[in-house]
Amino acid sequence: MTSPLAQTLTLPCGVILPNRLAKSAMTEGLADKFDRPTRRHNQLYRTWSEGGTGLHITGNVMIDKRYLERAGNVVLEDDKYLELFKHWAEEGTAGGNQLWVQLNHPGRQCPRLINSKPLSPSDVQLDILGNFGKPKAMTEEDIQEVIQRFARSAALVKQAGFTGVQIHCAHGYLLSQFLSPKINQRTDEWGGSLENRARIIREIIREVRSAVGDDFPISVKLNSADFQKGGFSLEDCIQVSQWLGEDSVDLLEISGGNYEQLSLMGVEPTEVRESTRKREAYFIEYAEKIKASANIPIMVTGGFRSRDVMENAIEKGETDVIGLARPLCTQPNCSSKFIKGELEQLDDYEQGLVLGKGFLGNNSSLNLIKAINSFGQVGFYYWQIILLSEGLPVEPGLRVFRSFCRHMKNDFKLGMRRKFAR
Ligand SMILES: Cc1cc2nc3c(=O)[nH]c(=O)nc-3n(C[C@H](O)[C@H](O)[C@H](O)COP(=O)(O)O)c2cc1C
Repeated sequence: MTSPLAQTLTLPCGVILPNRLAKSAMTEGLADKFDRPTRRHNQLYRTWSEGGTGLHITGNVMIDKRYLERAGNVVLEDDKYLELFKHWAEEGTAGGNQLWVQLNHPGRQCPRLINSKPLSPSDVQLDILGNFGKPKAMTEEDIQEVIQRFARSAALVKQAGFTGVQIHCAHGYLLSQFLSPKINQRTDEWGGSLENRARIIREIIREVRSAVGDDFPISVKLNSADFQKGGFSLEDCIQVSQWLGEDSVDLLEISGGNYEQLSLMGVEPTEVRESTRKREAYFIEYAEKIKASANIPIMVTGGFRSRDVMENAIEKGETDVIGLARPLCTQPNCSSKFIKGELEQLDDYEQGLVLGKGFLGNNSSLNLIKAINSFGQVGFYYWQIILLSEGLPVEPGLRVFRSFCRHMKNDFKLGMRRKFAR
């Protein structure tokens, strides 16, 4: 019997996804010191493209070189190096898949090493190990510039040959900051009511649509909730999703959390119920509610690891597309195996990526241990991405402390290299 994962999906703009599996965005950290894509992007995305996943979403690409999520981000703000992007798009679609670029502005989640005076809707600082500066509250001019930058970058995405675009409105980055009443304390037309907090996103979608035309897929990645007191809530998300459907968005990706509340990775999921975690998909219950009100295809990302859970979710119509991120770092061709029925269960490395698990347990309250675990876990996946980008075999045996050290060293190196190139 053919797997439901093999079904195609026609999006509102008319584009057809070849199957129901998608690679969710993962920041690659592979740009050169001038923030340009490199041969490593080409190699990485060719490998992924040949792995059977129908839709690939790039790691976040920045719309403004002054503000990055991390050093090693690609920036697309003008057509100076469009040839490099064309090459990336070509290699990344070799397998006949869709390849969409995720566009992002970090807002206050911009490390000090990049810019100690980031932008945000209000001047509410993010306090994580002193890594982020106090943001400047955006002026009307700043807001208009950001809207135009998203539209310009989206037009360049299309010109370069990518097949779609995703606007990152989740995980605590700039557009997610606008949505959060905890961070957005403005009293003008960009803050206050949900309608005002969502205004910038709706304006961006309108401008992006007019830049790319009616037949080009536009996706939005949105938090089902921030899982923080006073933050963006599920009720807010249901309303915003309905608006995004009216605004002709083609695919809504549902995630959750931010840097302070890492629910997106299933870490510290105070609000994500244990039962939900056990049945893998962290946000599926929320997605069901969102889907019921939003007239828009849905992609749910976070925690999917076994074929029967994914197939069930598609069959029951709980989601239209399954988003996968971490599994594709160690098993880049898992989608093709799932679709052919050759794989039941993905390897799960997260459980092993805990420092001193034996004697400290999973829930150590020591801040240093927590930091090592969080950065070590993410560093594990960054390292596999680097190996794939060099055409080398992945290293699933890498331990959390080594991952942490490699990640810190690499990030510092990327940051300094970029700084001294200016
Ligand atoms: C190494 C790494 C980098 C990530 N970078 C991004 C990113 O650039 N944009 C984004 O929206 N999400 C990013 N994420 C989050 C993933 O897209 C996804 O939401 C999360 O990993 C949960 O899915 P999973 O359980 O299948 O890994 C990243 C995750 C990892 C592990």
